[in-house]
This record gives sequence, C-alpha cells and structure tokens, in this order.
Amino acid sequence: MTVQTFIPNGAKAASENTVTQPTHTTDVSIKKLYIETQGCQMNEYDSHRMADLLGDSHGYILTSNPNEADILLMNTCSIREKAQEKVFSELGRWRKLKDKNPDLVIGVGGCVASQEGDNIQKRAPYVDMIFGPQTLHRLPQMLDQHNAQVEKPKKDKIKLVDISFPDIEKFDFLPEPRVEGFKAFVSIMEGCSKYCSFCVVPYTRGEEVSRPLDDVLAEIAGLAEKGVREISLLGQNVNGYRGETFEGGICTFPELLRLVAEIPGIGRLRYTTSHPLEFSDELIQCYEDLPQMVSHLHLPVQSGSNDVLKAMKRNHTIDVYIDKIAKLRKIRPDMHLSSDFIIGFPGETDENFAETLQFIKDLDFDHSYSFVYSKRPGTPASDLPDTTPEQVKKERLAQVQKVIKQSSIEKTDAMLGKIERVLIEKVSDQDPNILIGTADNTRLVTFVGDASWVGRFAEIEITEIKTLNFVYGELLNLEPDVA
Ligand code: SAH
Ligand code: F3S
Repeated sequence: MTVQTFIPNGAKAASENTVTQPTHTTDVSIKKLYIETQGCQMNEYDSHRMADLLGDSHGYILTSNPNEADILLMNTCSIREKAQEKVFSELGRWRKLKDKNPDLVIGVGGCVASQEGDNIQKRAPYVDMIFGPQTLHRLPQMLDQHNAQVEKPKKDKIKLVDISFPDIEKFDFLPEPRVEGFKAFVSIMEGCSKYCSFCVVPYTRGEEVSRPLDDVLAEIAGLAEKGVREISLLGQNVNGYRGETFEGGICTFPELLRLVAEIPGIGRLRYTTSHPLEFSDELIQCYEDLPQMVSHLHLPVQSGSNDVLKAMKRNHTIDVYIDKIAKLRKIRPDMHLSSDFIIGFPGETDENFAETLQFIKDLDFDHSYSFVYSKRPGTPASDLPDTTPEQVKKERLAQVQKVIKQSSIEKTDAMLGKIERVLIEKVSDQDPNILIGTADNTRLVTFVGDASWVGRFAEIEITEIKTLNFVYGELLNLEPDVA
C-alpha cells in the first residue's frame, strides 16, 4: 500500500514521508495522481481514501513520480514544527513543476491545511485546492469546480478552500476501501477531545466523533470477505470509541472488539492509538477472552514524571499506567509494549527526566516514537516558560532512544527458540520456497513453506535472529484458513 512494506503498529514518525504506492501504467493519456503523505497512520489511511476517490470519480491512477503527475496532493502533518516547515519547502519544489506545466493541479490537505488554510493561500497562491482531514471526501467536487474555472480570468476565480468540520459525514462519501494483501486499516473514530496541553490534534482534526457501529462492522465484514485477515482499528483516541448502535444505544471500544472478533475471517486484531485513561478493565479483559488480540500494545504515556504529566494535562499519574500494564501482563506475560514520549517538555527538570528514564527501564518498552517537545502555536503549553537548552533536550532524547533500542534488541533476541503466531503475507522475491510473515510483535518472520499458504496463520518456532526486525523460523503448525 505504501513504499514502506512494513508498518509497525503505532504512530509513525512525522519525518517518514510516504508516497502512496502506484498501480503502474505506461499509457500517457491516463491522468496521473501523486500523493505525498506526511505524519501518522490516520494520514496514510486518508491518502488511500483520496486515491480511491479520485480513481473512482475521475479515473486518476497513482504515480510515484511527481514529474509525470497531472495532480499533486500533499497530505500534511502539523504535530511538530519541523513537519510543518516541510510543507512550504516541498510546495516550493512543486511550484517549479507548475511553472513548467501550468495545467498541473496542486492540492494541500491534512492538518497544516486545517490550521493554516489562509497562510497557505498567502504564501503559496499557486495551490489550487485546500481541504482538511474532514473534507477530503469533497475532493472530486473541488476538482470539478477547479476545472470549471480554469479558463476564467484570475480575478473571477473563487479560491477553493474547505477546511470545515462537517461531523462524520466523510465516511458516508468514501468508496469501499480497496484491498491489497491481508492487512487493512479501518478508521473507527476521528479527532480527539483530550486537549493535552502540547497537542494540535483537537484543533486540526476536531473533537472526537465515532463512526456508527454498523458501518464499522459492515466495512470489516466486507474486508474479511475479500481476504483480509488482520484488522488495525484506527483513531487518534481509539479506545474512546463510542459508536451509535442500530437501536440507538452506544457501543464502547471493548464491545466493538468483541463484535469484530466474531466476524468470520478476522484472525488478528490491532488498534492504535489508545489513551491510558480509557484503557479500562473491560478492555484488559478482551486480552483474556479474544485470541485475535495481539500481544503488542501501543499505549502512549508521553512522560514518566508525574509533574510533567500534570503540566501536559494527561489527567493520570504514572501509577495508573503502571497498574494497567501490570494487569495486562498478568493475562499476557509476553505483551510487547510501545509508547510515544515527549522529551524536554517546558519545565522538565533533570529529576523529572531521570524519573522518565527509570520508568522506561521499569516498564521494559519494546519500542517508542520519541521526540523533543515542539512548541505549537495556539496550544496551552506554548505559553509555558521553557528554559532548558535545546542541546540538553537532544541529549536526553538520545538517552531515551538508546535505552529503548537496547530493550528492543533484547526482545528480538529473546524470540530465539520461542513459538510465534505468524500471518503469512507473501512469498520471498528471492526464493519461491521461502515465505514471509509478521509476528504479533511486528517482527518479520521467514521460513520454508508453500506459496498456497499465503494468507493463513502458522505457528513458527524461531531458529535464528537475523536483525532487529527480522528472524528465521521453522513451521510447527499451519492453521486452517479462518474464513
Ligand atoms: N492520541 C495519541 C497521540 C496522537 S499525536 C495519544 O493518546 O497520545 C502523536 C504523538 O505526537 C503524541 O503521542 C506525542 O508523543 C507527539 N506529539 C504531539 N504533540 C507534540 C508536540 N507538540 N511536540 C512533540 N511531540 C508531540
Ligand atoms: Fe493529542 Fe492528547 Fe489527543 S496527544 S491526539 S490531545 S490524547
């Protein structure tokens, strides 16, 4: 689906831009669409929907080469300043392409568009369409409007900007997701109402809105029928899901997980990103009752210091997090844990940082997305005094990353001799007798097998550790197809 073939379970670093992967063609009469995606998995999900939409409505096909595209779309991220700066530097490059080809259409969507629509218009007037995360479904109409006024003199053209928040209407207008492979993402809620003091998401994506239960279940059942075996439920605050049921009631996240697990064909369940506050006992119980739930959890905590958590307005203490993880590990001792960390939050002292480092060691994280705090205009934390030198923050971050990397290496090494449940995803490019799949903990596992097994789950004994993310094994048991 993207240039990255291996997507870990958890928010992806904003610096890792991806280009939505094209279906190839050499026919020059076919119109081509290039999408650059910045930021999180929600943005990746949205980019795929944009490609599906413009493919269905206008026959556009994806290209990985911006130079041959008829339309360029940038799906932007504003979570950190660096990500946002990138938008304008990239747009500068796209301007040069437009100078060469005045028919080229340029669109900017995502969180920077949502927050900075006016600024984009001012700084990059050659951008033709500006849309937000909640209005991307209106892209086909926007494109029609754009095409209708191409011939008009500049002064008569209306600027095509739509960065409103029309509730959850978006999902009613998106085409059925196209299925490639055995894994699929399903967005179940949008936005966030937690208002952590550092974060722009509630302002760029709006407050939490959940998709109705029946829509979510129908989408997943459709995906399962098309061969999907692993579902990742997506949302900025996914365990805050409260979807309306057909009878007018409310379905909670743990209830949703139980219903999804009943859908024939769904052999594995992941979700991201969850918040510790709503990581309830009912959710923990699902790990006991539902074998489809992976022993891998991305539960962002942001800091290991109660003072910092308070200033971040996370509304819980470290002990709350520790207790929840202890309960979870009682049920699943092999639980792999990952988190987001913000290092160098305004006011973070040496002692606060030492607490975070100790907390990371105690909780034994397998992975993290950790960044130095970035001041975001309009967020409450942007007014806090921040006296820690940037260099100190960078050194602290390096320490965190070193500890977690070491723990990750140890976790991979510990797989040796263990039995892993693997979703077999493909045959190796190099050898038709070698199969490649993913374990619960997202490591790639290769072993000798038959191409006809692709799409099924297998128990694999790990016999050799190749790299941090890549191990060899031998087949112990091939599960019957779960459909
Ligand atoms: N819903 C998720 C977070 C989504 S934003 C949660 O519950 O935590 C993804 C990550 O970006 C956050 O977890 C945080 O670690 C990081 N982030 C958000 N704002 C940031 C900022 N101003 N500076 C640095 N990192 C930030
Ligand atoms: Fe951001 Fe906090 Fe929500 S990090 S996405 S406001 S849970």
